[in-house]
Amino acid sequence: MPDNYLPQVRSQYEALPYPPCDPEDDHRRLVLTWLEDLPMINHYCFAGRQSFQNGFRALVAGGGTGDATIFLAEQLRAIGAADAHIVHLDMSQASIAIAKRRAEIRGLSNISWVHDSLLNLPGLQLEAFDYINCSGVLHHLADPDLGFKALRSVLKADGAIGLMLYATTGRTGVYQMQQLMRLVNSQEADDTRKIANTREMLASLPASNWFARSEALHHDHKAGDAGIYDLLLHSQDRSYSVGELFDWLGSDSPQGHGLHLAFSDVQRGRSPYLPHMVLGSKPPAMAAQLRRLPRRQQYEMAELMIGDIITHSLYVTRDASCTAPYGDADYIPFFYHEPLTGEMAAQVFDSQRGQPFMLRHQHSGVSVMVNPGKYGPQILRLIDGQRSFGDIFEQFRADWRGQAAAPDNTVLFADFAASFEALNALERLLLRHPLADAKAA
Ligand SMILES: C[S@@+](CC[C@H](N)C(=O)[O-])C[C@H]1O[C@@H](n2cnc3c(N)ncnc32)[C@H](O)[C@@H]1O
Repeated sequence: MPDNYLPQVRSQYEALPYPPCDPEDDHRRLVLTWLEDLPMINHYCFAGRQSFQNGFRALVAGGGTGDATIFLAEQLRAIGAADAHIVHLDMSQASIAIAKRRAEIRGLSNISWVHDSLLNLPGLQLEAFDYINCSGVLHHLADPDLGFKALRSVLKADGAIGLMLYATTGRTGVYQMQQLMRLVNSQEADDTRKIANTREMLASLPASNWFARSEALHHDHKAGDAGIYDLLLHSQDRSYSVGELFDWLGSDSPQGHGLHLAFSDVQRGRSPYLPHMVLGSKPPAMAAQLRRLPRRQQYEMAELMIGDIITHSLYVTRDASCTAPYGDADYIPFFYHEPLTGEMAAQVFDSQRGQPFMLRHQHSGVSVMVNPGKYGPQILRLIDGQRSFGDIFEQFRADWRGQAAAPDNTVLFADFAASFEALNALERLLLRHPLADAKAA
């Protein structure tokens, strides 16, 4: 491995592999990661058309102790993607050893292991990848853009990258705490003592301290030495506002990579980036106006309003057409991330008998005004994860008892748009194309 990684960062992850994990726990449970759900990857990265058969290749760059790798491998095995392959790359040998043991316990054979710096990817002669996960890694590099370019060098032209990068606003208290601990530990060379000092400090902070105020947002400091070090003592750690990510990776700035960014916060989807979904059950009159502003501006405002986004999770793709389109009758809508049925959703959307209503989503805590349209509840009732919109609308018309002619697909898509948008923003309603159900050729 040429000397192009940060030695202090490497020694941290050799001594304290992250996330801390006992591989033997894999006998009992599977860790799920938000971005690596195949139906999510399919919806946001492959226009819902990816079957993951025919030699699908994924790279997990800076894969650490293996959460994303194991989850991907398990799902690919479960759908019978026999020739799919995952490469797990990390510069920490200790982390790879844990991830490998987890795969061994599970009998997963669809993974290969590369001990190297991701900056060396352009020269490793690996076959190109359909999907790359790089979660919590680029912000620990001296030059994150060099890292991103290295990832792109091994990505297929129609491939996608799932990224997690630290978010500035939500980590305000973390950076103050890191600064505090640098001062406290300025005479301390021993990491064990640094960690002990941090524990002592955490236990004694006044309630007015910014980290103490926002402590509920963070969990790593409760997850043992590796977590404390990663969160509060890291030697190389930077963060981004959502606007900075649009500038860096998107097409808003001439220096940017010109790619499309689809944000999906863990459990909340894109709702924390949408002012009208952040402003709660009594939105001010200006909420409707803010909703008409450009997407980037809405996202920047919402990040500042909500204040609790600690990481940005996003899919980076060639362009917006990589997201499954709403409005194509061939697509199959399906509920996800919650045991929802069409009937259950229909009852909620029918609560005000066709009038706009306040959707209070318990899992995410989001409250948003939704217009269910004239036909929303009937359409929702017909969603079973198997029927396409075309089939659903056919059935809708077959059940039609109105005086006038039954509405056509264009009318029904327009009527259901607000309901789809609300449920999709929460990642509770996704799309796939029938091609995704095809088996290997
Ligand atoms: C915070 S951990 C994240 C692990 C995993 N991706 C996750 O989300 O759970 C960062 C990982 O990136 C790895 N890493 C940091 N710099 C790297 C580099 N230049 N090349 C390869 N791996 C690197 C570290 O060894 C560590 O395992």
